[in-house]
Amino acid sequence: MRRNGWAIFAATAAFMLCAASYLTVGVTPAAADNSYWGANYFPNVPLITQDGKAIHFYDDMLKGKIVLINFIYTECGETCPLETAKLAQVYKLLGDRMGKDIFFYSITVDSKRDTPAVLKAYAKRFHTGPGWYFLTGKKEDIDTVRKKIGMAGRLDEDPLTGHTSSLTLGNEPQGQWMQDSSFDDPHFIATIVDNWLTPGYRKAGNSYANVPKIDESVGGEGPSMFRTRCAACHTIGGGDGVGPDLLGVTTAHGRDWVTRYILAPDKALAAKDPIAMALFKKYNKVKMPNLHLTPVDVKTLLDYFDKQTATVAQAGDSSADSTGAMKPEPVSTKTSQVPGRN
Ligand code: HEC
Repeated sequence: MRRNGWAIFAATAAFMLCAASYLTVGVTPAAADNSYWGANYFPNVPLITQDGKAIHFYDDMLKGKIVLINFIYTECGETCPLETAKLAQVYKLLGDRMGKDIFFYSITVDSKRDTPAVLKAYAKRFHTGPGWYFLTGKKEDIDTVRKKIGMAGRLDEDPLTGHTSSLTLGNEPQGQWMQDSSFDDPHFIATIVDNWLTPGYRKAGNSYANVPKIDESVGGEGPSMFRTRCAACHTIGGGDGVGPDLLGVTTAHGRDWVTRYILAPDKALAAKDPIAMALFKKYNKVKMPNLHLTPVDVKTLLDYFDKQTATVAQAGDSSADSTGAMKPEPVSTKTSQVPGRN
């Protein structure tokens, strides 16, 4: 009888220990191999990190973790830099959970050019940190991974530009997987990870309700277009981010140049436009992406920049740009080594 009682106690204690570790880590113990989305589903192919270390897709990258996976290539002049810049914002919002229970994987679709060293330099430009891996590997292994997580891209498209701009998010132990657009609001993506992918975990203050409000005083689509397409890299009066502060940009380089540039920054660079080249050099060779905007979109944005610039100039440095910029400064104090920008 005594022995029975002890056995029950031991079993209860073991259960409590499991429960406790579940609560502290926020992730259930690894699912059995026969779960739908476990070792029997995900390929365990080797990939190489930006530090040249070989790690396995299932054993090292997924098992027991909450993960965000996307596909990039460093020469990409279209959506990838925006995706990476947005993920960098999500990374900041997730804070100290990164590298503990949450991991980001940006896997190249151009393994020929994107060696670990190239990926390392790319990661540095976006100020990434622990828990965010940039991976390369054998093309067939990467293709297998893409297929298995539903991000193979279309067969009739260019293998590089045809990669999807989606993000796969998952909690491996719980077998919960979803996709989202990597252009989504970083606050929203961080909220999905904190609340939906991690039941029971809710970081104080990290809620979709805290998304910076759009400046209601400026009508039209300018502010929201800026916030979803540009604010991951730019501010208007809040200082340089990944790209230059756009305060006063139409006066500095002329509206025609800026319009042409936003419509096709890749072409400006290819044509060795001196301003585009100087900017590219100054901003660590991060490419201003060609986001395929229309002339009407660009006009809407430039009108918004002009309004915002006028507001900041009027208010001096006491006014705040509500679109995500932090601390505006008056136009006159701006310094820059870029031609025509002083
Ligand atoms: C991934 C980051 C990123 C995104 C997203 C981005 N840009 Fe840029 N942008 C840059 C970088 C970096 C430069 C500097 C030039 C370079 O390195 O190619 C730049 C340069 C510019 C310039 C020239 C600045 C000057 O001083 O003349 C303008 C204008 C501009 N961007 C507008 C926009 C607009 C409008 C959007 C949104 C529709 C946008 N950018 C989205 C990174 C970005």
